[in-house]
Amino acid sequence: MVVEVGPRDGFQNEPGFIPTEQKIQIIDELSDTGIKRIEATSFVHPKAIPQLADAAEVMARIKRKPGVSYEALIPNVKGMERALQEGVKDVVLVVSASESHNQNNMRMSVTESLNGFRQVVRMALENEVRVTGGVATAFGCSFEGWVAPEKVAHIVDEYLSMGVHEISLGDTVGMADPVLVTELVQLTMSRLVGIPLRLHLHNTRGQGLANVLAALQEGVTIFDASIGGLGGCPFAPGASGNISTADMVNMLHSMGVHTGVDLPRIIECEKRVQTLIGRDIPGQVMRAGATPWALKGRPA
Ligand code: COA
Ligand code: ZN
Repeated sequence: MVVEVGPRDGFQNEPGFIPTEQKIQIIDELSDTGIKRIEATSFVHPKAIPQLADAAEVMARIKRKPGVSYEALIPNVKGMERALQEGVKDVVLVVSASESHNQNNMRMSVTESLNGFRQVVRMALENEVRVTGGVATAFGCSFEGWVAPEKVAHIVDEYLSMGVHEISLGDTVGMADPVLVTELVQLTMSRLVGIPLRLHLHNTRGQGLANVLAALQEGVTIFDASIGGLGGCPFAPGASGNISTADMVNMLHSMGVHTGVDLPRIIECEKRVQTLIGRDIPGQVMRAGATPWALKGRPA
């Protein structure tokens, strides 16, 4: 399962304001690619991320395709209130495993974030909203470097006690490697009973797809990717792009792992986003073209 996070994680890192109309158009196009989950925006403080100050309008005006969920990132109770007003049905909460990144990003300690999330999850459950508990900087931090797996496990346990529906581990600054992914996925999966694990892997150091493969081998089936490989956190120095959606789908389809995503359409979408952004974006398959057997399978 591919979760498209470009409209949130990709756009939030773009310096020039992308007109709301264009955001909506891209989300609507993504809805027609076979992708079933799109992280469409975030209800964070508009001064923290001016690019996504139009979250309410985006959520209100996108064409909701049946069978597709439109998710929003939530940092605190206020964000949840705003999301509920827009009828958001799927939210992603984020707290960092690294104390310094959480302070920089959310202006709160990890404990303060988790305390707020107890109320956020209660509000979600009362309103039949599905909640993903996200752990940022789970695989390393630009301020602290190595992040102890115990910190990640602690946050996962807290989320589980709140009753979230899914856990997501984020490699916010692209420091994960396949061995670390294997270890942290095993540690996390041993705690999850009956709820899925999702991974959010950045490609900052070119290790994104290797990390996807390592996680696949551990049984992870939900992966974030971003249109054209846009992305990054403005509050984490050095953070850059996600894995491009076309690159990930191309690898998976070549391997015979089917995602239901229409690869040529995603490539078209990436090209349009590149034109919109007005500079080269990281996706590689959009430049090279799809692997032939990613499109039609291997010859018999
Ligand atoms: N949306 C809009 N306004 C919000 C808000 C939200 N989610 N959360 C708080 N506010 C408002 C409050 O209502 C308050 O307004 P007031 O002064 O008119 O009463 C004001 O902001 C200050 O509230 P406070 O709780 O002290 O927030 P803060 O200034 O410490 O900011 C966050 C905390 C979490 C809202 C902010 O740091 C943030 O949005 N961070 C997200 C960064 C991000 O998106 N990073 C990338 C994705 S991981
Ligand atoms: Zn990210």
